[in-house]
Amino acid sequence: MDTHTTSTDARRRHEIGQLTRALKGHLVWQSHLAADGAPMPTAEQLGELAARIEAAQRMKDEAARKRLFAPPSPAPAAPPRAPARPDPVGVEAALDDAPAPIPLARAVADATPEDAERPESDIYLATRLLGSSSELDAVARANRSSSGALDAVQALVGDCQRCKLARARTRLVFGAGDPTSDLIFVGEAPGFTEDRQGQPFVGRAGQLLSRMIAAMGYRREEVYICNVLMCRPPGSRYPEPEEIQTCKPFLIEQIKAIEPRVIVALGDCAAKTLLRESAPIEELRGKWFTRQGIRIMPTLHPSHLMRVPEDKRLVWSDLQKVMTALGRR
Ligand code: URA
Repeated sequence: MDTHTTSTDARRRHEIGQLTRALKGHLVWQSHLAADGAPMPTAEQLGELAARIEAAQRMKDEAARKRLFAPPSPAPAAPPRAPARPDPVGVEAALDDAPAPIPLARAVADATPEDAERPESDIYLATRLLGSSSELDAVARANRSSSGALDAVQALVGDCQRCKLARARTRLVFGAGDPTSDLIFVGEAPGFTEDRQGQPFVGRAGQLLSRMIAAMGYRREEVYICNVLMCRPPGSRYPEPEEIQTCKPFLIEQIKAIEPRVIVALGDCAAKTLLRESAPIEELRGKWFTRQGIRIMPTLHPSHLMRVPEDKRLVWSDLQKVMTALGRR
């Protein structure tokens, strides 16, 4: 095989990888928007589908790979699709930014879950190229434990322009840390330093959070840290309800991608957003809540602790409960 063919194949594999991750995120997203009773697949089924397609992309079999890259033969006229669901947050637009499609990539980008069951579709072929179910299971496990699902969420967020905060921000701040961690810390929104650096909790409150994490016996890279909002509100004011509504689905998708055992909600905004409780943080803190099978511990925000250092003992007692739940003490 000449060098040109090898690099073209590598580029195609890379593009297919990007698109399959985008597909997974898109399908998961559609399941969010699904009308009541609509037959949408579960997130697990979608994950397995994306894992199978991704695994197919890595396949060694040259003949099958050529088949996949061949221009599509004219397909029989497809039955009319249901009218598109509304796309209130512009996810379709985000996917439009994908690179110019190659034949399979186009098929993947247009695929519906039903395509995986139609023998004439390339998606059908891709999902069946891996033989044994144990191999499929291994791929599905690897997919869950890698950053693939988080990458899909980040691809959906893209260069987000969905609310007015986009105009004022310097950098969008996505979550950071271990995509397989048992423990997520959720803050409110990027502050001045985070907005400049594009990383969560790297200013003074972030340094205090790092010390809290170290006191719990973790390295910062071992946990995942994110915020309810990904853009800094002007002057670091409290987030507005529509800003939270717009950004919350991406927070939820990050959490679903990571599947933590425990979430520490830092401060009022994170606690109310995750718990859908209206009580003030002073009442919520220190108590366990469970949402979607994940235990959530609300506590005071590090910025509050910088203003009221004597409250550190309250936060430490909350974090000790988290350490106990995670078998860290
Ligand atoms: N405060 C937050 O809530 N998040 C950050 O990332 C920084 C400060």
